[in-house]
Amino acid sequence: MEKNYLPKNFSRILLNESQIEKIVSTLAEHINHDFRGKELMVVGILKGSFMFMSDLVKKLDVPCCIDFMSVSSYGSGTQSGGRVNIVKDLSESVSGKDVLVVEDIIDSGITLDFIIKHILNKGAESVSLCTLLNKPERRKKAVPVKYWGYEIDNEFVIGYGMDYAEKYRNLPFIGVINEE
Ligand code: IMP
Ligand code: MG
Repeated sequence: MEKNYLPKNFSRILLNESQIEKIVSTLAEHINHDFRGKELMVVGILKGSFMFMSDLVKKLDVPCCIDFMSVSSYGSGTQSGGRVNIVKDLSESVSGKDVLVVEDIIDSGITLDFIIKHILNKGAESVSLCTLLNKPERRKKAVPVKYWGYEIDNEFVIGYGMDYAEKYRNLPFIGVINEE
């Protein structure tokens, strides 16, 4: 990776590619175990979850359908706006289905609190959450996280789908930046 592609305030690599791969495999094993004999509707939350979602579903061996939702709650910086708007709604019916929501990172919990209620309102049988990263210290809304990969402190991360002002999503690792 070209050094000059990283932001000036880049601090360090938090998880490299092989560490991420191990975490995703462990999450998939748990999900495969818990949903054996069932079918899953896997809903990725765009855009941050796109890389995690694609790596995770390749490791699932329960029958699954794939859908995406996109919501906006952040501005262009590193702080949540606190209000959630639907940018792209589900395109499949979730009525009577077991839904697995796949998220990159849970911070305040505001986004997922909104999404869980939205999917239950559409008649889902159950909604389970799977997030790669969890920032429990920053939680404002309690959300039931069934599967999480790695817990982090109150730091801002980029890469493996996650952005800073829409950049750096394509980094294959997860890095920490110092907030300005
Ligand atoms: P929440 O509603 O505060 O939980 O925000 C969750 C969303 O904010 C995640 O889906 C991410 O897209 C974004 N987000 C939260 N923390 C970070 C971070 O450290 N880096 C990049 N995006 C983040
Ligand atoms: Mg996200």
